[in-house]
Amino acid sequence: MNVLITGGAGYIGAHACKALKAAGYTPITFDNLSTGWRDAVRFGPFEEGDLLDRARLDEVFATHQPVAVMHFAALSQVGESMQDPGRYWRENVMGALNLIEATVAAGCRHFVFSSTCATYGDQDQVTLTEDTPQQPINAYGGSKLAIEGMLRDFSARHDLETVIFRYFNVAGADPEAEVGEFHQPETHLIPLMLDAIDGKRPALTIFGTDYDTPDGTCIRDYVHVMDLVDAHVLGLKWLQADKGSRVFNLGTGSGFSVREVVDASRAVTNRDVPMTLGERRPGDCTKLVSGSARAIEDLGWSPERSTLNQMIADAWRWHQGKGYSR
Ligand code: UFG
Repeated sequence: MNVLITGGAGYIGAHACKALKAAGYTPITFDNLSTGWRDAVRFGPFEEGDLLDRARLDEVFATHQPVAVMHFAALSQVGESMQDPGRYWRENVMGALNLIEATVAAGCRHFVFSSTCATYGDQDQVTLTEDTPQQPINAYGGSKLAIEGMLRDFSARHDLETVIFRYFNVAGADPEAEVGEFHQPETHLIPLMLDAIDGKRPALTIFGTDYDTPDGTCIRDYVHVMDLVDAHVLGLKWLQADKGSRVFNLGTGSGFSVREVVDASRAVTNRDVPMTLGERRPGDCTKLVSGSARAIEDLGWSPERSTLNQMIADAWRWHQGKGYSR
């Protein structure tokens, strides 16, 4: 059974391809390699293409006749989305519209979408559930919320069922280190910290120490990428069992501050973490913690690898390898 994986050459998409192959599916990667890596496509065929090219999408649907689509491809940096909102609205939203229209035109009925906790924005609630009103404070979150709305409208009109996953902070790597997190430029906390630990950059800058949290740094809910992609396989099976469209948060329900992540990294690697204290980064929310009961209860998801120490240990193992080349 072929599954079309947009963004299959990226961090999360490549891990999803590995999990899908292990579950007996054939992942077909569709990627324009703007941020992904040819070398990360290791678990099924590769089709180079851009989501803004509808004819190319139609061709790939006709060739592979996928039973489902998993849509990972997107620009995904909060800070960049504040600097260049037009690019986020154009590439994320218009790319998704093309893909959804091509999916419907091809008669493909199942669609799994990577959304984000950034659609909730900065809210007072300790725990964000799927029913919390969505109020994004950055263009990245805004673009993902628009796509969620698009999927609802297409499902209402067409024979299309969707699973929407709102990710919290994805971290870690494949424990076998076949694939891992490798962004250029890197903007995420854990890989930047590992770079500082092994001297690839001078220091980690902590973005803001005056937030309204116990130690003044931002709190996030970190989820292991292997657990996250396991949820995608379960989501696909949910759709194939005709259980209908559903939205799920993917996080663990535990929040950690930036300083707590630094402390855990020091303990796991047994190395010093060079760091400096800096200004807040525009677009950052104070605290984002998931209510994940729905994925656990409805999908039978069990995020067992998502302890901070395990995520850092797996990321560290991958980090010490050679990464990818294009
Ligand atoms: N941080 C630092 N220094 C750095 C990098 C990050 O202090 O050099 C802090 C950030 O301010 C934030 C935390 O570490 O408080 C995590 O930052 P990341 O950049 O790793 O992750 P984000 O929370 O900004 O973004 C992630 C995903 C997005 C998703 C978002 C929701 O990358 O796709 O969570 O907020 F939308």
